[in-house]
Amino acid sequence: MPSIEDHAARFDEKADSYDDSKSDEYRTCASLVVEHAAPDPDETVLDVGTGTGAIALRVAEDAGRAVGRDISEEMLAQAREKARERGIENVDFGEGRFREPNVPDEADVDVVTSNFAMHHLSDAKKREAIRVAADLGARRFVLGDVMLFAEADPSEPFYSPEVDDPATVGVLADAFTDAGFALTAVERVHDQVGVLVGERVEEGAMPDAR
Ligand SMILES: C[S@@+](CC[C@H](N)C(=O)[O-])C[C@H]1O[C@@H](n2cnc3c(N)ncnc32)[C@H](O)[C@@H]1O
Repeated sequence: MPSIEDHAARFDEKADSYDDSKSDEYRTCASLVVEHAAPDPDETVLDVGTGTGAIALRVAEDAGRAVGRDISEEMLAQAREKARERGIENVDFGEGRFREPNVPDEADVDVVTSNFAMHHLSDAKKREAIRVAADLGARRFVLGDVMLFAEADPSEPFYSPEVDDPATVGVLADAFTDAGFALTAVERVHDQVGVLVGERVEEGAMPDAR
């Protein structure tokens, strides 16, 4: 699989035209991520793999602050330009990666979002990324992505196997619960695209199974 630098270079190259052609599934997925993020007006949202800011710029309308992180400087440049054009000032775009999101020291992250980006990671790294979100103290994690539902048709992949490594919904669901997020919503957009929502389980909130 490509390295993180390969992914950054690939997205640097396509940054100018990235927003031009988007599938219906992508648009639906992005809207669902924004809808489920639903931050309070004083909350901070961290959007990882933010790209040209599709999610960060929309959640910034409701949140106190949005922090968009990505490995591609050219994608980030597009995101900053869109924020400037739209006069959105409570968003901060900068370098950061799933496993080291480079969140400003003073920011308490309440909600983590990611759309169409985590499938670039191996399953082991996806698990680590979800754990990092939990360790930041986020109360909610909203993941929209290419992911494989049980009936996914392998002969018609929605993704490029050379550069993409989508997980099954089962693997992601386990990673959420292992990191301390209860899975509270599963939205199936396509048999290879979906949105998962995890909410932090407060200690002591789990019913005693004995
Ligand atoms: C398909 S784009 C999605 C962008 C945006 N979230 C959206 O919904 O349009 C994937 C983005 O993930 C970024 N990316 C890939 N691997 C990453 C990593 N390990 N950490 C952070 N960003 C990453 C790429 O640079 C790219 O901007």
